[in-house]
Amino acid sequence: MIYNKKYQKIFILISIFNLTVTNLNAQKKTTGISADTKIEILIKKMTLEEKVYMIHANSSFTSGGVKRLGIPELVTSDGPHGVRPEFGRDWELDNNLLDSGTYLPTGICLAATWNPKLGYAFGSVLGSEAKYRGKDVILGPGINIIRSPLNGRNFEYQSEDPLLISKMVVGYIKGVQNQDVSACVKHFVANNQETKRTSIDVHMSDRAFREIYLPGFKAAVQQGGVNAVMGSYNKFRGQWASENNYLLTQILKKEWGFKGLVMSDWDAVHNSLQALLSGLDLEMGTDLHMLPNPDYNKFFMADTALSLVKQGVITEGIINEKIRRKLYIMFKTNMIDGKRLKGEYNTTAHQKIALKVASEGIVLLKNRDNILPILKNKINKIAVIGYNADREQSMGGGSSQVRAFYEITPLQGIKNIAVNTIVSYAQGYDIKRNATANAELIKSAVNLASNSDLVIFIGGSTHGYDYSVWSDNAYDAEDTDKPDMNLPFGQDVLINALLKVNPKLVVVLMGGGALDMNGWLDKTPAVLQSWYPGMEGGNALAQIIFGEVNPSGKLPVTFPKKLEDHPSQKLGEYPGNLDNLTVHYYDDIYVGYRYYDTYNVQPQFAFGHGLSYTTFDYSNLKLLQSGNKVTFSFTIKNTGNRTGGDVAQIYVKPIASLLPRPEKELKDFKKIFLKPGQSKKVTFMLDKNAFMYYNDIINSWVLDKSNYEILIGSSSRDIKLTGKIEL
Ligand code: GLC
Repeated sequence: MIYNKKYQKIFILISIFNLTVTNLNAQKKTTGISADTKIEILIKKMTLEEKVYMIHANSSFTSGGVKRLGIPELVTSDGPHGVRPEFGRDWELDNNLLDSGTYLPTGICLAATWNPKLGYAFGSVLGSEAKYRGKDVILGPGINIIRSPLNGRNFEYQSEDPLLISKMVVGYIKGVQNQDVSACVKHFVANNQETKRTSIDVHMSDRAFREIYLPGFKAAVQQGGVNAVMGSYNKFRGQWASENNYLLTQILKKEWGFKGLVMSDWDAVHNSLQALLSGLDLEMGTDLHMLPNPDYNKFFMADTALSLVKQGVITEGIINEKIRRKLYIMFKTNMIDGKRLKGEYNTTAHQKIALKVASEGIVLLKNRDNILPILKNKINKIAVIGYNADREQSMGGGSSQVRAFYEITPLQGIKNIAVNTIVSYAQGYDIKRNATANAELIKSAVNLASNSDLVIFIGGSTHGYDYSVWSDNAYDAEDTDKPDMNLPFGQDVLINALLKVNPKLVVVLMGGGALDMNGWLDKTPAVLQSWYPGMEGGNALAQIIFGEVNPSGKLPVTFPKKLEDHPSQKLGEYPGNLDNLTVHYYDDIYVGYRYYDTYNVQPQFAFGHGLSYTTFDYSNLKLLQSGNKVTFSFTIKNTGNRTGGDVAQIYVKPIASLLPRPEKELKDFKKIFLKPGQSKKVTFMLDKNAFMYYNDIINSWVLDKSNYEILIGSSSRDIKLTGKIEL
């Protein structure tokens, strides 16, 4: 058709107008369509091959998308306290990439802050940095119960107590996911040891399962709204956890209403049909044992899944449900629709949060005669001694490793603060497993100590497995448990030699948990537990030692006097029967302080213990009960001469119960900061859930009619106020 020029212009204008209107309507229609509907539309458009391509890995840390439908790959990365260095698509750690990022304190240090707000801040940093690095899922938090002090990954986890885990994990997850990144809580469930972690079969009672090992995950799902869950390597009651219908479908999805994605741990899938029918949605890492030339079609949920559907052994609906969940988290993090937040990397704001978490997570265990804080202008010569004083830890631990943008070691932190003091360093010991202390190193350390006003010893266990030096020095690392609770590398001998020439000794222990201090604790005036405190850890430690920060950390795990006292040893089993590869949790619900307090075993340092440079007074408890709910308040006063923080811990103690119960259990807590002389009225409410326990004879949560004590303490063993109620 020929138009004259004038009409042609009008025609073009009308067509543009129509197009815009159609587009707007279409947009209005698509923006008006719910994500759930969009997911169903996409599923309908996908071929079976495309669906199967999405439910297994297609590289070391990614799984397939459907380009033609605008569905991207799902990109995951470790880890729980920083974004892992780039491994590319086939497990090659690329040491030339400038991917160094924020190295946050590890999980147990975060938990030691007892500050849920910091959990959120921590998660925000992690999510923002993951986003910046192009990751859609960060593989953390790790929240397995710290059941044995020997577990190699305790550093990465949080606590022996499910309530403390639950409070800390919710903030962490929300922090991550508010950055348009999915958190992936792990390892579901009962991965509480690294010894034979990929083959051990864990057995426990339903009481232990429901009261101790599940609650943290339940909080992550129901309160934290976590997008992803990672199944663990081990078996649970005879069935691999990452293909376990009871865990993944019955509990996680049906009982808890989990709508997100369940992925396996890497190389944790063993059987196609079992995995497909168990509720596992995404198979990762099976290529690990196919390296160096992995064929991703050989994954259990790849070609075999395709043929199982084609043969009619399983329905396509089973595959659709997995796709539905994967698309659900993609829409929820704006991967397919909408604008995603950009993410930031190595910002000073992130580094400040790393410092804050370390400052509130380091625990002052002992401070005889208030030797701490050190008045820096009163000290001329300081000896800093110990391998850990000058060691960067960030690349240690295994999959949770981080290439830190920088790492302030304890020695550097002390030098940063004590600028007018002579700070000298001696290594003191070498890191060879089971080494006797090296005579030369001891001699130079003792010599330095004898010529110093103060000695700061920085020891503990050393974050091994940093891919450069592995095996002989690996403590606090994945895939390996500690051999015992002894200070490794002959440190006991060294500490005693130092004490002999200079009793003004401060011991700082790094590591993932309790170590045996019997050889020197009584003679040592001050002890600090600094965990692996991240890139700003040296500054945080020094600020505490020299009093710029008042320590407010509290132990998230009990420190036993000796390994034999520990319930996993005393009641067993740990590490279980390594012939038939089973471990029975005969310690049952008596994990950590639940054991020490019920069996009257004196710990070295109690759960919830942590000193301050000031003092606090608790008074004026008032209880108001209505039915099965109790509201109570009390006053905390800072009776010292400097600002400080304390954690008011609320324990419930049943006076009588139908089934045996722990002497006390943590049911709430609040961290309160007060200026000198300041008082604050603190209020709590406990409903009936705080008094119930799981009766595994009738398989339900029950509330016994009984008297209960409400214990208010600044540790599980330092009870300040007690109230009584009858339910
Ligand atoms: C590891 C760990 C898991 C990690 C995964 C990917 O074996 O158990 O925590 O996220 O593999 O590296």
